[in-house]
Amino acid sequence: MFTAARLARFQQEETPFYFYDMDLLRQTVAACRTASEKRNFHVHYALKANVNNELLGIIREAGFGADCVSGGEVEKALENGFRKDQIVFAGVGKSDREINYALDQDIFCFNVESVQELEVINELARARNKRARIALRINPNVNANTHHYITTGLEENKFGINSWEFDTVVEKLRSLENIDCAGLHFHIGSQVTDENVFKSLCVKVNEFKEWFAERGVYFKLLNVGGGLGVDYHAPDVQPIVDFERHFAIFEQFLELDAGQEVHFELGRALVAQCGSLITKVLYIKKGINTNFAVVDAGMTELIRPALYHAYHKIENISASSAESVKYDVVGPICESSDCFGKEVELPETSRGDLMAIRTAGAYGEVMTSSYNLRPKIRPLFL
Ligand code: LLP
Repeated sequence: MFTAARLARFQQEETPFYFYDMDLLRQTVAACRTASEKRNFHVHYALKANVNNELLGIIREAGFGADCVSGGEVEKALENGFRKDQIVFAGVGKSDREINYALDQDIFCFNVESVQELEVINELARARNKRARIALRINPNVNANTHHYITTGLEENKFGINSWEFDTVVEKLRSLENIDCAGLHFHIGSQVTDENVFKSLCVKVNEFKEWFAERGVYFKLLNVGGGLGVDYHAPDVQPIVDFERHFAIFEQFLELDAGQEVHFELGRALVAQCGSLITKVLYIKKGINTNFAVVDAGMTELIRPALYHAYHKIENISASSAESVKYDVVGPICESSDCFGKEVELPETSRGDLMAIRTAGAYGEVMTSSYNLRPKIRPLFL
């Protein structure tokens, strides 16, 4: 990943910056495409993971659609050439303005999260003399066994329509004239590494589909969301996720009706491993138990460790010392949670060394902030 040529290039750049390995991205996207096309599965890229135009271009060229969660993301997808009939719009709090914008753009589908949202979309579509295509986002009450902040498919979560509202939904679908119900949508959480979770999801999808069919409601598409996790601990062992295995689970466990399409919304699995946050060591400081390596990137550039206690592998990519020392790798922000890793074993480190914080391509750059009046971080695509 960090060849001598790349390191030499990094040394000319002002730090911190996000480095994207575009070859790895291309290979990842190609692997996903091969595995999905084989089964005629449709993949939508979840823009929320990373919205750099350079990455979007590669993903769009592979023929993937776009999964958006705001009017801004719909606009971004359109600007980057994603086909309108491959754009889905999800989110628990779509504003009227965003819905109107998406209606005007004739996007493929709204993933609807509540009965009231169904009524509002119907109203707004009627005012425009249109029919809105929708999929019902169902809360399947499946535990994703991931961090509770990124679990979304439990009844206690705010997402999706719960089963006790299904009768009302069926009634609404019969009476709302400007709604075309095309599918069921699910997304149970992110960074899911236990494949049994996806098997449980398939069982639930089959059950829900059956329940609606018994009441005369059929769906053209089943959207099973994203959530496929990546290896944060050993990013180089298998940098490309096993898409083949992931899709095979759905192929095996979903009971499809004739002509029924399966859709996915993948974010992290496509872009996480190609990105690293590159930061420079500013100071080495003696602490009581460990030494601090104070680097020039902070929680403003990568908030995942502070927000979710997320683990990211940290490497000193310029030190040559054979001696290994433990450091708390911390940023410059005035918060104690501004820490990328505690007691990280690294070669003896000095001021000026470059560190790579790995697996930062997803939910890294998009979640940056200007807290402490930090300047916007730049990306470097190689
Ligand atoms: N579809 C829906 C409806 C979603 O809410 C999400 C992610 C995705 C698809 C894409 O999921 P993925 O394939 O990337 O797991 N900021 C957090 C992750 C939040 C994920 C939100 N929803 C993090 O840094 O881990």
